[in-house]
Amino acid sequence: MKIAIVGGTGKEGRGIALRWARAGHQVTLGSRDAARAQEKAAELSSAGTAIAGDDNRAACEAAEVVLITVPYAGHEAVLRELKDALAGKVVIDITVPLAPPKVRQVHLPPGTSAAQEAQAILTESQVVATLHHVSSTHLAEPDHPIDCDVLAVSDHPEALTVALDLLTDLGVQAFDAGPLRNAVALESLTPVLLHLNKCYPGSGAGIRVSGLGRK
Ligand SMILES: NC(=O)c1ccc[n+]([C@@H]2O[C@H](COP(=O)([O-])OP(=O)(O)OC[C@H]3O[C@@H](n4cnc5c(N)ncnc54)[C@H](OP(=O)(O)O)[C@@H]3O)[C@@H](O)[C@H]2O)c1
Repeated sequence: MKIAIVGGTGKEGRGIALRWARAGHQVTLGSRDAARAQEKAAELSSAGTAIAGDDNRAACEAAEVVLITVPYAGHEAVLRELKDALAGKVVIDITVPLAPPKVRQVHLPPGTSAAQEAQAILTESQVVATLHHVSSTHLAEPDHPIDCDVLAVSDHPEALTVALDLLTDLGVQAFDAGPLRNAVALESLTPVLLHLNKCYPGSGAGIRVSGLGRK
């Protein structure tokens, strides 16, 4: 699948790019600066897996699926700028509306969740929100198993199916966690995990869902 990663030069995007590329997807890192994206893509590709780099708009236009991974402070502006390039596409948004410096406290944004804000802007796209609880350090080493489950929410069942398959390609077990409004619960759990990481330093807090059968 052709995948663009908006903000793919960042901590979370780079690990995701590597894992998807190794799973056989055609991945392009997006950036506000095409040269920076190409430089980061070349670094990642040196491990033997081809990854491309381009500016955010060109990357989105060429993609079938787009992952958004930018700090909340830039989220709305990036989505408004790319809205037309994202129309008709599955948009996987992993943004957590943290409010630095108090990143260990829940911050509810004006639209209740970053995911709902994204869908309100991207009226022609199918937004899926997920990956709020997987640390970039876990994703960065592609051979390292990710010891947590992943929850995904969307109001678009077909987009959710596409996203769940792609999440499996990252090497995680992913679950349908309901409609997009449930993103408020997922996004709000991240500051709790960041608090746990500070209190109980280890390899990084994640979540495991117990007691489930087959869907
Ligand atoms: N890091 C984690 O462990 C983790 C875990 C779960 C979820 N998340 C969420 O994933 C998102 C990305 O996290 P990250 O740690 O990867 O962030 P990051 O490294 O700080 O930033 C990611 C990329 O976003 C772009 N960016 C930065 N500021 C921007 C702005 N104002 N407008 C547009 N683009 C901007 C930058 O790319 P260019 O300068 O190249 O454009 C940057 O490389 C956040 O919403 C975070 O809450 C992170």
